[in-house]
Amino acid sequence: MSKYFNSNIKINKKRLIKSIYKMAKIGQLNNGGCRRLAFSEEDFKAKKLLINWCTEIGLNVSMDPIGNLFAELKGKFKKNESIGIGSHLDTQPHGGKFDGAYGVLAGLEVIRTLVDNNIVPPKSIKLINWSNEEGCRFTPPLMGSSVYAKSIKLNHALKTLDKNHLKIENELQKKFPQDIKKIFNHKLESFIEIHIEQGPILEKSKKCIGIVTGAQGSRGLDVIIKGQDAHSGTTPMNLRKDTLIVAANFIQLFDKRARNLNCDLRATVGNILTSPGSRNTISGYTFFTIDIRHPRSIILDKMETCINKIASDLIKKYKISINIKKVYNLPTVNFNTKIQNIIENACNKLNYTKMKMISGAGHDAMSLAEKIPTGMIFIPCLNGISHNEKEHASDDDLEAGCNVLLHTILKLNDFKTIHTPHL
Ligand code: GLV
Ligand code: MN
Ligand code: MN
Repeated sequence: MSKYFNSNIKINKKRLIKSIYKMAKIGQLNNGGCRRLAFSEEDFKAKKLLINWCTEIGLNVSMDPIGNLFAELKGKFKKNESIGIGSHLDTQPHGGKFDGAYGVLAGLEVIRTLVDNNIVPPKSIKLINWSNEEGCRFTPPLMGSSVYAKSIKLNHALKTLDKNHLKIENELQKKFPQDIKKIFNHKLESFIEIHIEQGPILEKSKKCIGIVTGAQGSRGLDVIIKGQDAHSGTTPMNLRKDTLIVAANFIQLFDKRARNLNCDLRATVGNILTSPGSRNTISGYTFFTIDIRHPRSIILDKMETCINKIASDLIKKYKISINIKKVYNLPTVNFNTKIQNIIENACNKLNYTKMKMISGAGHDAMSLAEKIPTGMIFIPCLNGISHNEKEHASDDDLEAGCNVLLHTILKLNDFKTIHTPHL
């Protein structure tokens, strides 16, 4: 048994909770949540606070070209074998305090605990804040971690526009602290992310820790409908090319097909834009987004076929044009089974109840899982609510998860069987 894993050290609960609530003040909303859209002022303020906290304890902080932050605690012997821990600080428009921020700040708390206890682990530990995990302002989600894992091209990501035509490249240049070191080739040999579950399973099962075995696949589609702007008072009902009415029909059929296709399918139209957006003009243009998720790609293929059929039927019926573009396809992933065992052993050692489960939400760990040994730890959240200002996790669960993360990281330090090419 390793001296690292036998260590009985615990994280500092008070400091962890204080950091989470302090971070939540950045982009704070009126009902307890946060709005820190990727590459916004608030997102950069959050990054700066993290940089300050990391430099205070002597970590080496740098960023890569997509704005991912890396804060390194240098290892004693195996300087090139870094263990990555982290998540994201960007949020949904009406996000909670814990989605992403918990993973980053639990990682920070683990490193603070090692520093407090004068433990210099054999391997370096890199705390990572991935850019644009949410993908709600700039598509796709998991952008920073996907660029890192080379599953999307840096240049493509930098040129991405938001709905106001602001480009990531320019936002990064304008807002990012210029004095920060730029390092483009951070190596990792394994990665661990801790997160609130964002669903009801742990709470219902009365378990404290989720050992995440994998995450379901998700696909994003954009739908553009083109018809004709026309006067609302003079255009007879049978002569209209009203894209908003077509979209309303589309969305209803989409929801019905999804419910009938498979009980585990998740299908959402989350955003709709219509033009010209006037009470007395028929909408000649409508855009909306589709998000579909399921653990089996065959079900997602079937749902895509349904979506295309809905579109072709509506094109015939309304004589308008409908264009559907797939904007991302994140496959289902499995997390490393040896890391799952290490997490389970940490739960046993610490006496926390646990269960194995699959993630319904998307996470940066998914981007890394294909390339390096990766694991995820979940804790419960109140009523399973997330992407909502009311999102809540109890102090005790936040502490428990962070202790499991600490002991997982300690054990990973003498995990000799994981040897894959570095990313
Ligand atoms: C990220 O929060 C996602 O699952 O969409
Ligand atoms: Mn998240
Ligand atoms: Mn989220």
